[in-house]
Amino acid sequence: MRPKVTVIGAGNVGAGCAQRLIDKELADVVLIDIVEGVPQGKGLDMLESCPVEGSDAKVTGTNDYSATANSDIIIQTAGFPRKPGMSRDDLLMKNYEIVKACVEPAAKYSPNAILVVVSNPLDAMCQVAYKVSGFSKNRVVGMAGILDTARFRTFLAEAANVSVENISAFVLGGHGDTMVPLVRYTSVAGIPITSILDQNTIDQIVQRTRDGGAEIVKHLKTGSAYYAPSAAVVEMVESILKDKKKVLPCAALLEGEYGINGIFVGVPTKLGANGIEKIYELDLTDEETAALKHSADTVHELVNVLQPHLD
Ligand code: LAC
Repeated sequence: MRPKVTVIGAGNVGAGCAQRLIDKELADVVLIDIVEGVPQGKGLDMLESCPVEGSDAKVTGTNDYSATANSDIIIQTAGFPRKPGMSRDDLLMKNYEIVKACVEPAAKYSPNAILVVVSNPLDAMCQVAYKVSGFSKNRVVGMAGILDTARFRTFLAEAANVSVENISAFVLGGHGDTMVPLVRYTSVAGIPITSILDQNTIDQIVQRTRDGGAEIVKHLKTGSAYYAPSAAVVEMVESILKDKKKVLPCAALLEGEYGINGIFVGVPTKLGANGIEKIYELDLTDEETAALKHSADTVHELVNVLQPHLD
């Protein structure tokens, strides 16, 4: 039997996740949305792509959470996207209500699932999903680091004129303007990036990575990125469903790691059948530690705003 994955939200990110999952024949997918007709229509359209793609995966669209029962993974994408000029944090209260309304019934119908959170502001929404679901911390994981790192790798590969596959990198911290691309751990097939690109080019790429989401919003004007975000989600889902134990930068609940306690922040994790199976603590310089702390502080500020609603 194929695994079952529920995708909450039939917008661009959610539909993108569903399409990639069935293209790869990774799971049968239930696409759920509050809007009547949209998940049903998109789901049927996707299902009809399967004969062409050669996939026997099933996809159904619904507005009813009972159809999501016993999912192995729940992907939470529903929420307002950013508009030009909005920060991810402007979405805080709006998306808190949405994430709560979605995760509550989804967790009830699939009490053993692993929750992959995508809604923004990402790190704070992970906290909401964690509280509302009551799941153990290894079963709540946020998608951001793979996306941010993919942007970093794209720009570095372009500047160095090498394959994107050769760029190994990590972006730590919250999914926001304070994220921390770790240049010291970045290499081209093991060769330190600093011996291939000059510091000025690297600095510019670090900044472009931090602004990566906003750069797309500025172009699109009516929404935010979805091709790279859905690819990142599916890499996580594949690692979990196939128990691949990939080491991937994801938002995880920290309890003392990196000196951070009680909030979700992006760190290197190992993703397998049990969700987050390990959090890796890297040796950071004082400067890197300070940057990560600064990033964690901004997540803390948002969580503090939400705290009265979460207790
Ligand atoms: C981005 C938004 C989705 O980084 O957070 O593109």
